[in-house]
Parts: sequence; structure tokens; C-alpha cells
Amino acid sequence: MTLLCVMPLAALAENVSVSTPHNTIVLDINKGQEPQFVYYGPRMSDAVVSAMPRPTGGHLEAYPAYGYHVHDITALSIRHADGNLSTDLKVIGWDIKNASVTAPNGKTAPVQTLTINMQDAVYGTQVKLYYMAYQDVDIIETWTEIANTDKAVGKSLTKNSTIALSQFASCMLPIRRGNVYLSHQHGGHNSEARLFEEPLVRGEKVIKNTDGTRGAHLDRCEVMFSLDGPAKELSGDVIGAALLYSGNYRLRIDTDDTDWHYFSAGINEDNSEYHLRKGEIFETPHVALSFSQEGLSGVSRQYHRWGRQYQMANGDKLRSILLNSWEGVYLDIKEPEMDQMMADIKSMGGELFVMDDGWFGRKYRRVNDDCALGDWIVDNNKLPNGVEGLLKSAKKHGIRFGIWIEPEMTNLRAELYDAHPDWVIKSPQRDLRPGRGGTQLVLDLGNPKVQDFVFSVVDNLMTAYGPDSKLIKEHGDEYEPLTYIKWDANMEVLNAGSQYQSMDNQSHLYIDYHRGLESVLRRIRAKYPDLTIQNCASGGGRVGWRPMPWFDEYWTSDCTDALQRIYIQWGTSYFMPALGMACHISASPNHQTHRRVSLKFRTDVAMSGRLGMEIQPKNMTDEEKAQCQQAIRDYKTMRSVVQMGNLYRLQSPYPGHANVSPYSGRNLASLMYVSDDQKQAAFFWWKLEMFQHEHLPKVKMAGLDPDKMYTIHEMNRIDRHPLAFEGKAYSGAYLMQVGLDIPYSHDIDEETDWSSRVLWLEAQ
Ligand code: GLA
Repeated sequence: MTLLCVMPLAALAENVSVSTPHNTIVLDINKGQEPQFVYYGPRMSDAVVSAMPRPTGGHLEAYPAYGYHVHDITALSIRHADGNLSTDLKVIGWDIKNASVTAPNGKTAPVQTLTINMQDAVYGTQVKLYYMAYQDVDIIETWTEIANTDKAVGKSLTKNSTIALSQFASCMLPIRRGNVYLSHQHGGHNSEARLFEEPLVRGEKVIKNTDGTRGAHLDRCEVMFSLDGPAKELSGDVIGAALLYSGNYRLRIDTDDTDWHYFSAGINEDNSEYHLRKGEIFETPHVALSFSQEGLSGVSRQYHRWGRQYQMANGDKLRSILLNSWEGVYLDIKEPEMDQMMADIKSMGGELFVMDDGWFGRKYRRVNDDCALGDWIVDNNKLPNGVEGLLKSAKKHGIRFGIWIEPEMTNLRAELYDAHPDWVIKSPQRDLRPGRGGTQLVLDLGNPKVQDFVFSVVDNLMTAYGPDSKLIKEHGDEYEPLTYIKWDANMEVLNAGSQYQSMDNQSHLYIDYHRGLESVLRRIRAKYPDLTIQNCASGGGRVGWRPMPWFDEYWTSDCTDALQRIYIQWGTSYFMPALGMACHISASPNHQTHRRVSLKFRTDVAMSGRLGMEIQPKNMTDEEKAQCQQAIRDYKTMRSVVQMGNLYRLQSPYPGHANVSPYSGRNLASLMYVSDDQKQAAFFWWKLEMFQHEHLPKVKMAGLDPDKMYTIHEMNRIDRHPLAFEGKAYSGAYLMQVGLDIPYSHDIDEETDWSSRVLWLEAQ
């Protein structure tokens, strides 16, 4: 320690960096000292990196541990076996490796990884701090491994060699103070991902989840920091941070009297102290960081690209247009209706039908939502010819078939619960407090037997009906295979307590639940890589990057009201790409808000993500069906650009938020997707409310090639007369610098409280 005080700091600096194509992070690493954060921002050359001075005005330890000389803003806190609460980590070595790694979705990723090895000089606890920079996308992942390598010190280890982790953040990122604004998404069932933006002020800002099962319920574990004033969509320096975890989490920004904000992210430690036996290693979830000088949309594009490439199952494949039965018939599943819905979606150009909740239950029939979860046996009263009958219909109509399950749950009234009451999450000695329907319970996924069961739910369905099943192998000309599963999770953890964990490890419940979930999902993906799986949890309760390596898409929200969906989808698009964003055309009046919205508007909103329908087509008029048929046809033209393109959010629907125009949030929302080669683009424009003599801003496009000429075609057209610019060509420069004047209403007498336009741009 004396040495530290005597030597000038500059002489000690040994800057080490890893870089993505456009980002660099720099650490100052010296043996025998704590690693220090130096820089995170635009990519810098080696020469600049080596000359970078150690920043001043803050406490910049890269992974501060509690108790020895840090007491306030910490990332790690350990109770050693002798009860000592302090930890003192010093660097014992580091290295940088360039390698190809297998990304979570199974794809191979070129990365450069910095590993910093640290050790507690007295106890021997080892911590590895990682920074993994992708070489082809602008994401750096950071995380730690904490190992119980403690040696006998004083009274420790003689009886008990277990250490207890009471704080275990994945990272600590200092952010230089200035005029930093935080953008984050808040909102629960039916109003997910509402966007909030606020300046960072003194004190502690915490965003967290304690739901137990649905990690994205209420607040999302992803944030953006706009470094130079209120957030802008298309310009400005922005840092994005996404925690890759599906369970209880905590994001924290501490702002004290120094020149820095301190951002840390990780598992929520509340009621989750974790005990590590001698030799055990605890790996924290990764945090994916991204920096862009192109504003909030720039950061979003970087997450979308990385996500499609490395974090999402089948992220390189386009998604099908589907009809889901939920809002059409709810639990009232019947074979003739299923057949009719399949015929209808096929006739409108759809490609997939998904039978939602209500198809199962033998002793307890799923006629209400108060029983039968866990009893994944077809209800023959509703489906006399079983799933086979439906697969036959699907084959007849020439569409894919999918099915809903909620495999992590059971009910008090379920055969599964009758047989395995010990499998549910339950506090010792207390009566059960059930959830949805007054009887729902959560299975304890920390229990390997439960994991096997949950795996078997999918495995049994696929063995019976999947592409490799006997049924399909022998009668594939008669039956369509099951190729899609909607995986739901509709309850939080009540009854906190585990019948599986030991008395000492009750606090492992939440963490082991999500480890168990991941292990099941991993097994499913390994066996069924081509199965399409939708991530649903009471709507968007699990929307986030962590579960996505095992899911192809996510149910954005149970709220299908087109007006509210603009806000939900806007917030969701901050981190999640349109490829997985399930957006369904539903009935009017809407079932959640009871708002009446024209079919044109409903369609134009749903087309900006992964288009689907959630409606009883039997109740639609022929005209409406024809309109949807046209929309589906148009969507197929634009699909690859919407699902795989680069997103530019142009005009925010949120009042006062992140607008490129001074008319912030006034009755207009607009965004566009541009293909990588800038030859095609899909432009969406939604007017949000109707006022006479209102004056809406003219939206300037973005992301186009200024020198290319783009021909404009309106999609989903309902107007009698074509738009003034229909079929005409304009340079990218004109469209981006001037923009097009879009009429505020349609020229037909329809409900056009909210009008909308979808334009398709093709370079000549
Ligand atoms: C959840 C889902 C819905 C639907 C119902 C079925 O609420 O979000 O889409 O599947 O469950 O019970």
C-alpha cells in the first residue's frame, strides 16, 4: 500500500483495451493493484489507448469489493467462512485472446476477450472479470466468475468452507457526469415497455424486478444513457446496457459527489444470498454494452444486429405470418372452429395457425383458467380427433401448426399437482397462496425432477407430432407436423420457499429457478433446433435478451389495441428487433381497451413488426378479409426489410421524448426500416389523434443512400386516389433533408380517427 502512495499514478498506468469495429473499452491493469476503468466510447487506436491518462475525480475500480477500503459503491460482497465481511481483490494476471466462440444461439462469433484474474491476498478468493468484444458487431459483454478458492485463515475452513455472496453484480461501469439522461422502459401487463427518460441526478436510481419468474414484468433490464443532453434518436453519444438475465435483477446508478455516475447491473440479491461451497464457481449473467454516436436508434440497431446474429434462435430466418386463436375463441377451443380458423388464415395468405390455451385437461378440463396446467393431455370433448385431427386440417389447408403451453406451472386442481405436490414452490410450514384463476402454482425449476418434467412437456409433444414423429414419418402426406410452440408463464413467485432446497439454501430459490429454466431450454433447443418457439409471459413479461437464445420470437403484449401498441412497440424496439416482435391484428372494439380503431390502422401498426392476426375471422366481413389479404400480400413484399432491416425511429409518439422535430410527441409517430444495401426501405407513419386544423410535422426519413433514387409505393392502400408521390422517384438526399408531405386523413368515409400510411421504397 505504501508503494502506491509513493509512485506517481501515471507511471503505473498500463492501459489494456479490447475493441469492436466501432467501440473500445480501456482498463488500467497492474499486478498487485485493483484494475481501474479508463475509457469506454468510440474506437481508439492503440497509440491513443496507450497514451490515455487514468481518469480523475472518481473511484474507478473496475469491480469494487466491499469492506476493506470501499464501503459505499460496490459490486461484490462476500462473507468468508470465518464471518469476515470484507474482500480485497488484487490483480494476479490478465490476458487477451482472439478466438471464435460459440454464441448462445449456437452461431460462431469472432471475439477478443480480456480476462483479468484477481485474488484476495488473505483469503485466496478468486474473481475473474471478463470483457468480450465482438469483432463484427458493436457489443462488448462483461461479466465475472467468483470462485470459492478460499484457504484456511484463522478460524475459517476448519468447520465450514462455504462462503456467502451477498452482492454479486455483473459489472461496474463509471459514466462521466455531464448532462447524462437515462432512458428506460417501465410498465406491466397490457402496457409494457412505456418509455421514460430522465436526467441522472444525485442519489441512487434503481431499476429492478422481484417477480421471480417474469424478469421483464414492470421494468426492463436494459437502459440507455444519452451522454450529451436529452436523448435524440438520430444523433448524439449514447451508451446502451442490457443485462442478459431472465430472473430478478437490479440495475443501479449511483451518483455521489464525484465526477462520475456508477452503473452496475446484475442479479437482484434481495432474498437471494448465494452460498458457494469450496471449489464452486458462481458465474454472473453477462451485461451487453454498446456505444453509438448515432443516437438512441444507433444503439438499437447495434443490439438488433448482434441479437439476430448471436442471441436469438434462428435469427437469420424470416418469421411466418400467423393466426393465434386466443382473442378469437379464448378457452372455447373446438375442432370445427380450429379448422375454420385455419381455412380463413390460409385464404388471407397466412402461413401458420397457433392454437392457444384451452385444448388440454382430462380429469380437470381447461374450460376455465383455474385448472389443468401440467396436464398436457388433449381434451377429447373439445377435440374428438385429438391434435391429429388438427394436424390433418393444417395439412389440408397447407399451413403450419402450433400449440400453446405453460409448462412451468400447475394448478391446485391438476393431475400433476395431485401426483407431485412436492414439486411446487412453497414456503415451509405455510399454506399455499395460489395465483391466476385462484389455483395456479409455480413449479420449482431448481429441482432436477421438475426440469425433466418441463423438458418432457415439449419433448412429448414433439415426439408425438413433430417432424420426426412416427405419425409424420408414416403419414406425412396426411398430417402437418407440429413446428411451433407458444411458451407462456403467467404467474409470479408467491409462497417463496423451496421444498427441494436445503434449509440453509432457501435463498437459492430464485437463482436456481432461472438456472433450471435455462438448462431446460438448452436441452430443448439442442434436440429441436428448428422448432419455432414464442417467448410469452403474460404478454411481454419476459421480453429481453436472455431467454432469446432459445426463442424465435416474443409476444410483445397482451394489449393488441393498435393505438397503445404504437407506444409499446416503440419502447420495445429500443433493444429488441422487429424480427421477433409479434404484432397481431385484432378485433375492434379492442378487447383490452374497448377502443374502436379502423382496420387500416390496426394493420399498419401490426405490419411494423412480425405480422400476425389474433381474431375470429368468422366475424370479419368479406371486405375486411380482402383488406387483410392485401395487407398480408404487401407485408410479404416488405417482410425481409421489416424483420431484418436497420431501424430508424423518426418521430416519437411520447410527448417531449427523443424527437427529431420540435413538435415533440404531437400526434404523430413514424419509423422506418432500411435494408443493409440501402436499396429498399419500409416507412411507417401513424397519426395518433384527430383534431381539426392541426399541423403535423413533416417527417424526414433517415438511413437512405443520399445518392440513390427511390421509387415510392403506398402499401395497404385504402384511399380512392393515389398519393401525390405514388410511383414517383426521389433521391435519398431529398427524402432525408426534406421529406414527403403525407395527407392527414384518408379520402374515404371510414373511421379514420387515427390515419396511417405505409410506404415502400425501392432504389432504381
Ligand atoms: C397469457 C398470454 C395470452 C394467452 C393467455 C392464455 O395471458 O399472454 O396471449 O396465451 O395467457 O391463457
